[in-house]
Amino acid sequence: MEPILSSTTLQLRPHHLHPHSLSSSSLSTLKLTTPRSLRQKLSSPVSPLRVSANSQAAPASTEAKSTYSVPSQMKAWVYGEYGSVDVLKFDSSVSVPPVKDDQVLVKVAAAALNPVDFKRRLGKFKATDSPLPTVPGYDVAGVVVKVGSQVKSLKEGDEVYGNINEKALEGPKQFGSFAEYTAVEEKLLALKPKNLDFAQAAGLPLAIQTAYEGLERSGFSDGKSILVLGGAGGVGSLVIQLAKHVFGASRVAATSSTGKLEVLKSLGADLAIDYTKENFEDLPDKYDVIYDTVGQGDKAVKVVKEGGSVVVLTGAVIPPGFRFVVTANGAVLEKLNPFLESSKVKPVVDSKGPFPFAKVVEAFSYIETNRATGKVVIHPIP
Ligand SMILES: NC(=O)c1ccc[n+]([C@@H]2O[C@H](COP(=O)([O-])OP(=O)(O)OC[C@H]3O[C@@H](n4cnc5c(N)ncnc54)[C@H](OP(=O)(O)O)[C@@H]3O)[C@@H](O)[C@H]2O)c1
Repeated sequence: MEPILSSTTLQLRPHHLHPHSLSSSSLSTLKLTTPRSLRQKLSSPVSPLRVSANSQAAPASTEAKSTYSVPSQMKAWVYGEYGSVDVLKFDSSVSVPPVKDDQVLVKVAAAALNPVDFKRRLGKFKATDSPLPTVPGYDVAGVVVKVGSQVKSLKEGDEVYGNINEKALEGPKQFGSFAEYTAVEEKLLALKPKNLDFAQAAGLPLAIQTAYEGLERSGFSDGKSILVLGGAGGVGSLVIQLAKHVFGASRVAATSSTGKLEVLKSLGADLAIDYTKENFEDLPDKYDVIYDTVGQGDKAVKVVKEGGSVVVLTGAVIPPGFRFVVTANGAVLEKLNPFLESSKVKPVVDSKGPFPFAKVVEAFSYIETNRATGKVVIHPIP
């Protein structure tokens, strides 16, 4: 399968870059609907968005300098209360986040949605979330325009990608990736694979890290068999590919609805099971590992081999099933870059997207249908 999107290059020039000079025609009709008090909080130069001590432990850098012309304010999507997509507001005067010593500032070219974005917005992780208001977005691809004083490897101009929240549910950043700029720890980023454009790269980090970490924790290895429940989703589409092309699975089976069976096969599935016609738990096969992305842990345990593992991302966990929460790590992306650059592993971008920056609400509504194929990507920004 060829990558769905062709390659593009983000044009950035030191000292000439100003986001308001970039094309924003699609945004010109948007109204500033953020309440005035919230706008002032977001844009005030003396009281920028407060950042969580959990997610950004390093002290604010006094030395972060840039040869790029970085503005003090930016366009971003923001919510000031938990709720439906209606709480999402576009704001053109959000403070550009400060850069800590161990962070870089990324000019965002593309971002991507994950279910955690809408679950967080709904307030499901309220107890461990950073304080509102929130600029949402975990996944990013873009260009480094400023580096903190302790940054060792990355430099201005580097094209990078990553999941900006090391712990998905523990104090995720207030300044997410659905913005023109986001500040990210160097250790969470990797250089963007050269053969991928920003939109393709943005869809990978959280999903591929989840796929990889789950396979590792399950003890998956060369010659083992696996059943992927939800093979067409953001995570499932990468579990199939990593199991087959990186870990050396002997056999990969996966489930989806009728219209997506060919996608599963194109990704490397030896058996594509149509869940609208067959119950996987009634089939005779048993697997070394079941990777459940859809919340069917109770049925999954019936088809795992004695001594096997069941990775459960959502829903009930029944032994030998186990659940984990993904940890963002740039090193995992670096490790997988050769497989991406050789096209052994390919990004799957849902064909309803990429959604332009003005259509973030539509992108949220779409991923919330639970029917996306691969990743829901936001591009260009702006
Ligand atoms: N614990 C963690 O660290 C972690 C990390 C990432 C994600 N997650 C969670 O894992 C889940 C999946 O994430 P994702 O990004 O892959 O979501 P996603 O991309 O939104 O998943 C959508 C896909 O799920 C498929 N699907 C839905 N119901 C299905 C069923 N009964 N059987 C087979 N396929 C089904 C759909 O295919 P059809 O249209 O064919 O049904 C669709 O392609 C979410 O709940 C997410 O919050 C957890």
